[in-house]
Amino acid sequence: MRRLPLNSPQPPHSVRGTAGSSVQHDSAWKHVSGQARYIDDMPEPEGLLHAAAGHSEQTHARILSMDLSAVRAYPGVVAVITAQDVPGHIDIGPVFPGDPVLADGLVEHVGQPLFAVAATSHEAARKAARLARVDYDPLPAQITVEQALASQSFVRPSRTHLRGNPDSALKQAANRLSGSQHIGGQEHFYLEGQACLVEPTEDAGVFVHTSSQHPTEVQKLVAEVLGLPIHEIQAEVRRMGGGFGGKETQAAPLACVAALLVRATGRPVKYRLSRPDDMVQTGKRHDFYNTWDIGFDDTGVISAADIMVAGRCGFSPDLSDAIVDRAMFHADNAYYLDHARVTGHRCKTHTVSNTAFRGFGGPQGMMVIEQAMDDIACQVGRDPLDVCLDNLYRPGRDTTQYGQTIEQHVLPELMRSLEQSSDYRQRRQAIQAFNRTHPVLRRGLALTPVKFGISFTAKHLNQAGALVHIYTDGSIHVNHGGTEMGQGLYIKVAQVVATAFQVDLDRIKVSATRTDKVPNTSPTAASSGSDLNGMAALNACETIRAGLTEFAAEHWQVSPDSVRFENNTVHVGDTAVPWADFVQTAYMNRIPLSSSGFYATPRIHFDHDAGQGRPFLYYANGAACSEVIVDTLTGEYRVVRTDILHDVGRSLSPDIDLGQIEGGFIQGMGWLTTEELVYSAEGRLLTTGPATYKIPAVSDKPPDFRVQLLPESPNREATVFHSKAVGEPPLMLAISVWSALRDAVASITDHRYCAPLDTPATPERVLAAVTESQQWVAEANREAVADE
Ligand code: MTE
Ligand code: HPA
Ligand code: MOS
Repeated sequence: MRRLPLNSPQPPHSVRGTAGSSVQHDSAWKHVSGQARYIDDMPEPEGLLHAAAGHSEQTHARILSMDLSAVRAYPGVVAVITAQDVPGHIDIGPVFPGDPVLADGLVEHVGQPLFAVAATSHEAARKAARLARVDYDPLPAQITVEQALASQSFVRPSRTHLRGNPDSALKQAANRLSGSQHIGGQEHFYLEGQACLVEPTEDAGVFVHTSSQHPTEVQKLVAEVLGLPIHEIQAEVRRMGGGFGGKETQAAPLACVAALLVRATGRPVKYRLSRPDDMVQTGKRHDFYNTWDIGFDDTGVISAADIMVAGRCGFSPDLSDAIVDRAMFHADNAYYLDHARVTGHRCKTHTVSNTAFRGFGGPQGMMVIEQAMDDIACQVGRDPLDVCLDNLYRPGRDTTQYGQTIEQHVLPELMRSLEQSSDYRQRRQAIQAFNRTHPVLRRGLALTPVKFGISFTAKHLNQAGALVHIYTDGSIHVNHGGTEMGQGLYIKVAQVVATAFQVDLDRIKVSATRTDKVPNTSPTAASSGSDLNGMAALNACETIRAGLTEFAAEHWQVSPDSVRFENNTVHVGDTAVPWADFVQTAYMNRIPLSSSGFYATPRIHFDHDAGQGRPFLYYANGAACSEVIVDTLTGEYRVVRTDILHDVGRSLSPDIDLGQIEGGFIQGMGWLTTEELVYSAEGRLLTTGPATYKIPAVSDKPPDFRVQLLPESPNREATVFHSKAVGEPPLMLAISVWSALRDAVASITDHRYCAPLDTPATPERVLAAVTESQQWVAEANREAVADE
C-alpha cells in the first residue's frame, strides 16, 4: 500500500491530514488494486468446511416432514443440522422475536432456511442442500401491502403522529388534493455478498470474522444460539465490500448458522452466499404504499395534511418498527404541514423480511410529500420550486408534526444558492421553449430539498466507545465501535485523532473493529458513524492529553497553560519536544499512553406513544437540481445534468464527503428509476441477478454532474469539530430526477395535470404516464369543444 513515509520532508508548521483536509481513503489503494481483504479472501484455516442452507420452496406452509438422507449421503458432506440441533435460542430476531435461525415447523417465505449443511467444498455444500425432500401443508399467503392492509395484518402495531385538527383544517382549506403512490423496494447489491468465517476457539466459544455493520449483535446472537455467555464469542470486522444497511441485522443469521456448524463439527466453517441466494434470502429496502389528503391555499401553501405510509415488512419485524417510524418522521421532508396526521403501518407479508437500506424508510416517506408538492404546483399554476420554497420550514413555521423544532434553518438559503448556481430560472424558460416546439422529446427540470434527521430513533443506540493507544515511537493505534464499509469512517476517525494530538495522519492506524476491544457497540448505521465514534475517539484522546499535559507541566516545571500540542511537537514553555521524544519521555516517567473513550448523544428524547419529542440531534440538508429528457414515443429518458449543493457542516474530510454525496445520489437514482424487484403472484422473487435487476452503470451518471459542499456551514450542535453526518441523506437528492421526469411528462398537459409516476420510474411507467397525459389533453379538448 502507498502510505506517506513517516519521516518525509514536510512544510513547516503544518500537520498533514487533520480534520477538514482532503485525504485518500485509507484503503483506496488496496480497493483499486484488489489487495483489500474481504472475508472470502482470507487465508483458509486447516480443515475448513463450507456452509449452505436448504430453503423453503413455499410461501407460507407447515412443514410436514423433511427427508435429509440424500443430503447427508452426498460426497463431502460432514454435517447437516436443523432447528432441533440448536442448543440455545432458535429465535434470533434482532429487536423483536420472529426470526428462527432455521425453520421450526413453519415457513413464511420462499427462500427461508430449513436446514444447513457443512461440506468440504462450497460446491458440495450447495449441491447437497438441494437434495432434501420436504413435504409441506400450504397455508394462505399474502404478498402485497394492500393485501396486508385489507386483512389488518401487521408485524408491529401501527402508530400516528398528530398535530392540531387535520380533519377540520382539510374541510376548511381553499384547495384539497389527494392521491396514492407505490414506491418500489431496492436490493442492496453490495459488491461483497453476505459472508462470514467462524473458527472454534480453545474453549467452548467461537471467533467470528463477519461482514457485518453490527459486530456486537453478531456476537450476542451467536452466543444465544450456542447457549453461551457473550464473553465466549469474539466478532471481528475488518471491512465490508459495501453494507448500505443490508448488513445491519442480516449478517447475523449466517454467522449463527456457521457457528452451529462449527459446534457440530469442531471445524472452522465459512458461509458465503452466491448472488442469487443473497438476493432471494436477504431483506431489501421496504416498498411502500402511501396515501395523502392535503389542503392548501391558492398559492400552494399547505394548511393541513393527512398522510398514511405503509411498508412491506415481510414475515418478521426485523428493523421495520424503526424503519416505518423514520418514514413517518420524513413524510414532511422539509415542509411545514401545520395541521397534520401521519399514520404508519408495518405490513406483514409472506416475503423475505425487509431491512435497513440507506435512508432507513426516510426516502419512502419523503416521496409522499414530494409527489403532493408537484401536484399542488400544477393545481395552483406555479413553478414547483416556488411552491416548495414557500412551504419550507422557517422561523415561526419551524416545528415538525412530531414536535421537534428546527433550530438551524439551512435550506431556504441553500436552495436559493442552488437556484442561482444551477441557472434554474433561465433553464426553465429554455425548457419551456423546447417543449413547445419539439414533436417527440420533452425536457423536465426539478429542484428538490432534503432534510434528514440525524440520530438513531432508538435512543439507547446513540452511544459509542473507542480505544486509543500511543506506542513509544509516537505511532498511534485507534479502535472504535464503528465498522468500515467503504464510507471512509476509519480515515475520518484517524483525522480526528491527528487533530487531537496535532500529529500527521500517517502516524495513526485504525484497525479492525472487534468486540473484545470495544464492547457493546451500536450498529454503524443512521449515518452516525463519525458523529458517534469520532466523538468517542476524541474523548479518549482528551483523557490521554490531559495526563500528558499535567506530566509535561510538572516535568519541565511550567504551568499547564503553556503546554501546547502543535505541528508534531509538544511545546512546553520555551522547550519544543518532538512528538516521538515526548512520548518516550512520558513512557519513562510511567504516564498512561492509552485510554478508552465514550460518547452519548445529548439533547435527544422521544415519547413513542405520544408521538412527540426531539428524536434528532440535528438535521442534515441538501438540494439537487436535475434535468431529464424523455422520448414520448418510448418512455426512454436520460438525466442530462444534475447540480447538488449539500450541507455536511464543517466537513471532516471533504473528498470523502463528496464521494458519499455522488455515490448516494447515484444509488438513489437507481432506486427511483431502473432497479425493479419483480415478484411472482406467489411471492417468488424473479429478479435474482444483474441480468434482470438493473443497478446504475457508469454510463448512467449525469454527463454534467456538479456536486458542491455548502461552504461556511458549521453544525451549531457540538458534534465532532462541528461536522454533520453524510452517509444517507444524499440518496434522497435523487428525488429530483423522479420529479424532473414528472415535470417533463406534465409539460404534455401544459402543467395543468401532473400524472402520477410510481417508482421505479422505468421507461414503461414513464410511457404510461405520457399516454395518460395525452389522454388527459384529448379529454380536456373534447370538453372544451362540448362547452362551446
Ligand atoms: N458508503 C459506502 N461506500 N458503502 C456503504 O455500505 N452505507 C451507507 C453510507 N455510505 C455505505 C456508504 C449507509 S446505509 C450508512 S448508514 C452510512 O454510510 C454508515 O456509515 P457512517 O455512519 O459512517 O456514515
Ligand atoms: N437508522 C438506522 N438504523 C437503525 C436505526 C435508525 O434510526 N434504528 C435502529 N437501527
Ligand atoms: Mo444505514 S441504512 O442506517 O445502515
